[in-house]
Amino acid sequence: MYEIELKPEEFRLFRTYIYENVGISLGQEKSALVKGRLSKRLHALHMESFKEYYNYLINDTTGEELLFFVSAISTNVTSFFREEAQWRWLQEHLSELIATKKEKKIRIWSAGCSSGEEPYTILMFLQNHLKDFESWDIRILATDISPKVLSQAILGRYSSTQVEQLPKNIVMNSFEKMEVNNEIKYQIKPFLKEKVIFRLYNLVTDPFFFKNKFDMIFCRNVMIYFDETTRNKLIGRFIELLPKGSPLFLGSSESLSGHKEKLSLLGSSIYQKR
Ligand SMILES: C[S@@+](CC[C@H](N)C(=O)[O-])C[C@H]1O[C@@H](n2cnc3c(N)ncnc32)[C@H](O)[C@@H]1O
Repeated sequence: MYEIELKPEEFRLFRTYIYENVGISLGQEKSALVKGRLSKRLHALHMESFKEYYNYLINDTTGEELLFFVSAISTNVTSFFREEAQWRWLQEHLSELIATKKEKKIRIWSAGCSSGEEPYTILMFLQNHLKDFESWDIRILATDISPKVLSQAILGRYSSTQVEQLPKNIVMNSFEKMEVNNEIKYQIKPFLKEKVIFRLYNLVTDPFFFKNKFDMIFCRNVMIYFDETTRNKLIGRFIELLPKGSPLFLGSSESLSGHKEKLSLLGSSIYQKR
């Protein structure tokens, strides 16, 4: 395969386009990553320069090439019960968080849900720790920018390596074991799946259409690619959607640079609206 050079001026074009359309901030050091991850795509499209690919990307009115670009340069890595310390915190504080909920209604947003492990973990957690789980009206909004991971999330089918490390009671209560093409798979049970509303949604460029508030928002390991301005803007919007006292969960490597007067840190990248 011949090598295609990514010139600095071409990288700058991608950088501006991706920032304006997805909010992802590509530092100069990402030039090699973009080149490495996109070269195969250029070859597949029989293109000879990154400029040619750039024109193709910006003229693609379906938006599909942009999504391809984003999945090539970002990661969808996730797992069940990721960020263990946060689940321990939630176990300790769940009863006080729901103490005032007379209507027995819980609304949670998993923003950047990837292939679904996060929203399904929220449900497994509630199923395990909420008294009379069945009698609660629970809805999880699960959104992501990538149609590929979202379709995996909607299918809700996972490999045995992902599931068999979970406690036995969770596996029994939340999954149906099945054989697909001679392989053992675990499918989320329909009564849990129906509590999740999956939507394709770009956290940076799509309008905030929400009418109601959320009892909790999870936006973990999503903002790592965003610059400070984009992160602060998004967190500001999350704050508007949270009632006082409600928690916002970020990834453990993410911390807050703005909005410190509106949020207090409760531990393990868990923030609470003051
Ligand atoms: C590393 S995964 C994190 C998944 C899960 N929240 C977790 O912590 O395990 C990051 C996800 O954020 C999504 N994402 C990245 N930029 C986004 C954006 N602008 N809007 C919505 N989702 C985005 C990616 O598609 C990816 O699925």
